[in-house]
Amino acid sequence: MEKRNLKSLNTFAIDCVAKKFVEFDSEKDFEKIDKAYRESEKVHILAGGSNTVFLNKEFDGTIIKIENKGKTIISEEVDSVAVEVNSGENWAEFVRWACLNGFSGLENLAAIPGQVGASPVQNIGAYGSQVADRILWVEVHNMKTSDNYRIMNADCEFDYRFSRWKTSHKEELIYKVVFLLDKVFRPQLDYAAIRSYLEENKINEVSPLQMCDIVTEIRNSKLPDPEILPNAGSFFKNPTISQEQFEDLKQRFPQIVSFSQPNAVKLSAAWLIEQCGFKGERYNHLGMHAKQALVMVNYGDATGEDVLNFANLVIEKVEEKFGVRLEIEAHLIK
Ligand code: EPU
Repeated sequence: MEKRNLKSLNTFAIDCVAKKFVEFDSEKDFEKIDKAYRESEKVHILAGGSNTVFLNKEFDGTIIKIENKGKTIISEEVDSVAVEVNSGENWAEFVRWACLNGFSGLENLAAIPGQVGASPVQNIGAYGSQVADRILWVEVHNMKTSDNYRIMNADCEFDYRFSRWKTSHKEELIYKVVFLLDKVFRPQLDYAAIRSYLEENKINEVSPLQMCDIVTEIRNSKLPDPEILPNAGSFFKNPTISQEQFEDLKQRFPQIVSFSQPNAVKLSAAWLIEQCGFKGERYNHLGMHAKQALVMVNYGDATGEDVLNFANLVIEKVEEKFGVRLEIEAHLIK
């Protein structure tokens, strides 16, 4: 339990020192983390740090860093497999491993930074897929009661960039996730960027591994590499508005980018932000990325406070112009 600088452990590269730091390497560490949980008023579970923004220069509590590795096929049918994966596994490597073995269902979620255990927390989603559709259950350890139990998919409260762990149940440490993958490939081609890639490159048939590579290439062409330009992925959620509000906006802004939903309309936050002139512009240490306006980037020395101030400026300007209030997607840690 020593102090630890977290700058290299969050992809936004925010300088923050944790007062206490413990690692969770395997189930043998349950006792150790329960003790850390009991003895600290504030605890934060840190996985890959790719959706995390530390707001202060010091985290005045205990960081539990997830490092448990390993994966096992726990059952196999003619057309599917169930794979149990420990939380500390790297997400992108797991997806690639699955595709290499001909197990499909996660290929559209290729190359997303972060760890397996964090994937259900914000229900990671991209290119027409979301992880909730492939999770059978999540194994958790309750640090308050020392019990281990299983949360079945239906009880995870999955929604767009949401689950039961996003805002509560902080005493539950996710230590394994079980996925149901297909052995027969049914490519998910709904997303326009994927369809146009296949058309442009005259590709008629794809394997899970090819799809994994295609998604990786599309992502890399738009999203900044955190190793080069620190960021936390999409900083805001795409806002959902009523059909009525949408009709009004469409009258005033005919080019508005939207995705229809049952009884509602989801707007492209990137488009709204771009229209307010933020795309590619630098504000001190921060900016919205030149190729994807939804991604806030850190040009070097931004503090958590700078991030919050800049985020509020973006929220204000978008609300002023469109009457739509953006919600921060990244996980803000006080
Ligand atoms: N667009 C703009 N300006 C931009 C970028 C996009 O106007 O700078 C418009 C374009 O019309 C584009 C549309 O928005 O066609 C959609 O853009 P994109 O495909 O990049 O997706 P997104 O809605 O901006 C969401 C997820 C991403 C995910 C992509 C691809 C959220 C908050 N973000 O972004 O997830 O990779 O779809 O499926 O839902 C993340 O959560 O960290 C993340 C990167």
